[in-house]
Amino acid sequence: VRIGRGLLRRARLPADAPVLTDAGVAATPFYRRLRRILRGPALVLSAGERSKSLRSAERLYRWLAHRRVERGDTLVAVGGGMITDLGGFVAATYLRGIPLVLVPTTLLAQVDAAVGGKTGVNLPEGKNLVGTFTPPRHVWIDPESLATLPPRQLRGGMAEVIKGAVIADAALFGLLERRAPAILRRDPVLLERVIGRSVGIKAAVVARDEREAGPRALLNYGHTIGHALEAAGGYRRLTHGEAVAIGMEAEARLAVRLGLLAPAAAERQGALLEAFGLPRRARGLDRPAVWARLLADKKVRAGTIRFALPDRIGHARFPVTPPLDLLKRALDHVLR
Ligand SMILES: NC(=O)c1ccc[n+]([C@@H]2O[C@H](COP(=O)([O-])OP(=O)(O)OC[C@H]3O[C@@H](n4cnc5c(N)ncnc54)[C@H](O)[C@@H]3O)[C@@H](O)[C@H]2O)c1
Ligand SMILES: [Zn+2]
Repeated sequence: VRIGRGLLRRARLPADAPVLTDAGVAATPFYRRLRRILRGPALVLSAGERSKSLRSAERLYRWLAHRRVERGDTLVAVGGGMITDLGGFVAATYLRGIPLVLVPTTLLAQVDAAVGGKTGVNLPEGKNLVGTFTPPRHVWIDPESLATLPPRQLRGGMAEVIKGAVIADAALFGLLERRAPAILRRDPVLLERVIGRSVGIKAAVVARDEREAGPRALLNYGHTIGHALEAAGGYRRLTHGEAVAIGMEAEARLAVRLGLLAPAAAERQGALLEAFGLPRRARGLDRPAVWARLLADKKVRAGTIRFALPDRIGHARFPVTPPLDLLKRALDHVLR
């Protein structure tokens, strides 16, 4: 993974390689600049999660086949997590695998989706039900690409950055506390540092556990409750990042109730979420619906739910199995 401002102007990218992107990305000045370096044919899909499908995968396979793309040829995927997941899946399976270069252009894709080797597409029955663990050859991250990202998208990516800081990097947490306004103004020097640290956290956790047997579960902090909130809202009320922010608020509260985390640490996390314009409470969600989603979570084993919870800022443990009544109270805390 390489990170740097203007990096792509200097990068040795495969100039004739086929490019996958979406219409939202294709409209940005960053993409137009990139196309001066990447001159190969481009397939531009409609933007949005609905394009992360087997239909799009088939379209891309056939597009590659028509262009006689061979085993040694590289695919370049330029975009957010939708494009990096889909491009990753197709590169992992077309001709049993061709090299892939990712150029993530959303903060979420830069710090999360493009790092760690998970690829996938959605089925009507659920998200990410088909996929592989296949790392890309290279990931090129240029923070300048974020200049055009909508603010809600930027804040959503920050939820994952804050998550990483809470579970693994107290120094990053301090930097975020001190520099929130400048980061939100997209100060490129700061963005580069923040992205670099976040990628480092995820890469280190994944390196210990590529196939999700143990340590990788730490990355689920905020997500166990967050996913339930996101699903109960029909994936429309809350963005993924907003749901994770509220999930972290609830799970930190849970850690406090269990005597794992100091109340002051939970409060610091809450203040940091607010500093980045992220919510700490969910309004208008149906409590029984959230509870039902939580119990349906794949991390439920034998009637208990296994959480990754912080025990201080910069450190977390897994698994923690709280009694269900404490979990209910943590949920009440964010649903009021
Ligand atoms: N593989 C993993 O480990 C992993 C981890 C987290 C998330 N994901 C996946 O990532 C996806 C979400 O990714 P996302 O939030 O990046 O969404 P996205 O890829 O759908 O992008 C969001 C929107 O932003 C636009 N966009 C992208 N870059 C832009 C830029 N620089 N300027 C302006 N607009 C831009 C896109 O056109 C799109 O409309 C989900 O499918 C999720 O499952 C995967
Ligand atoms: Zn997430």
